[in-house]
Amino acid sequence: MIGRQETIIVAVEGDSPEQWLPEFAQAFPQGRAVWGGDATQADIEAADWAVVWAPNEELLGRLGRVKALFSLGAGVDHLLGARNLPRGLPVVRYVGRDLTNRMSEWVVLQCLAHLRQLRTYEANQAAKWWLRPHQPGAEEITVGIMGLGVLGIDAARKLAALGFRLRGWSRTKKTNDGIDCFGGDAELGAFLAGTDMLVSLLPLTPATRHLVTYDLLKKLRRDGALGGPFYINGGRGRTQIDADIDRALREGLLKGASLDVFETEPLPLEHPLWTAPNLFITPHVAAWSPRSDVVRYVARQIGRYHSGMPFENLVDPDRGY
Ligand code: NDP
Ligand code: OXD
Repeated sequence: MIGRQETIIVAVEGDSPEQWLPEFAQAFPQGRAVWGGDATQADIEAADWAVVWAPNEELLGRLGRVKALFSLGAGVDHLLGARNLPRGLPVVRYVGRDLTNRMSEWVVLQCLAHLRQLRTYEANQAAKWWLRPHQPGAEEITVGIMGLGVLGIDAARKLAALGFRLRGWSRTKKTNDGIDCFGGDAELGAFLAGTDMLVSLLPLTPATRHLVTYDLLKKLRRDGALGGPFYINGGRGRTQIDADIDRALREGLLKGASLDVFETEPLPLEHPLWTAPNLFITPHVAAWSPRSDVVRYVARQIGRYHSGMPFENLVDPDRGY
């Protein structure tokens, strides 16, 4: 529970105070939640905590006195990439069961849609064609997950339960039953060479920016049971080059793709990806958590602070995630 007199600044890009302040009032009855856009200099000086999503840079620069900054998202590139992030401020990212489940639902949905050739059946239905193309089984397909963190591991477990073969790639090499693990830049090539469906659940960092290019996609397995590779990105758009994904789809280097995230969001109306073949587009909605869950999570972290316990899911600014 937040202590008497404590002030929490809430700044959530795209949302309104009515959507958040009642939740905070309920979770912190003895505290005071102030909407970032309405905060006075006195509020900022009195602030103990800040809860933010892509906050205004000017406001961010004035939050250097809070005890911690809570990111409303699992990704923290919206903060670590900001010019005005006060140095040395602890940043705590959001991790929640609901968000994790939703991401795994999205990943499983996309892998199954490509495995079961959903677009082909849609087109056949529209043409009233009763055709039965060859259907490989999940056990003939290797899904390779880039990013074996909270989201990657959960998605891997759920895909494995459906029979897919799993491999994963992370910065530090993991050992995990049922997942063939690869680590670091040195093992990226070997990881890609055996992957039929490449799933990215990577954070955006200087090391992952523009990692997925046409040349990287050329390294995926080409002779798999589906006749070519697929690419599925639920992490961050700037870890890929959108124009390269478009080219790979149009040239047939990729048999299909699913993108929830893009270099520029919203995806511009004139962007060629809108009409790329066998591409499923969702508008950065793969995973989220209800506001009440997020506020409860913040309350738990503040409670841990008051009990002398470390925050969970503290971001390492040097790693960038
Ligand atoms: P975690 O921090 O738990 O996991 C990140 C994983 O990426 C780790 O396995 C890490 O390796 C790996 N990684 C980081 N940098 C590199 C690198 N240079 N090379 C190889 N592997 C690397 O994050 P989460 O799983 O919780 O979330 C992942 C991302 O998903 C978030 O950062 C966010 O951007 C995105 N996201 C998207 C949402 C959406 O709706 N589209 C919703 C929620 C999150 P290691 O294990 O060695 O540390
Ligand atoms: C997140 C997101 O990082 O929704 O949580 O993208």
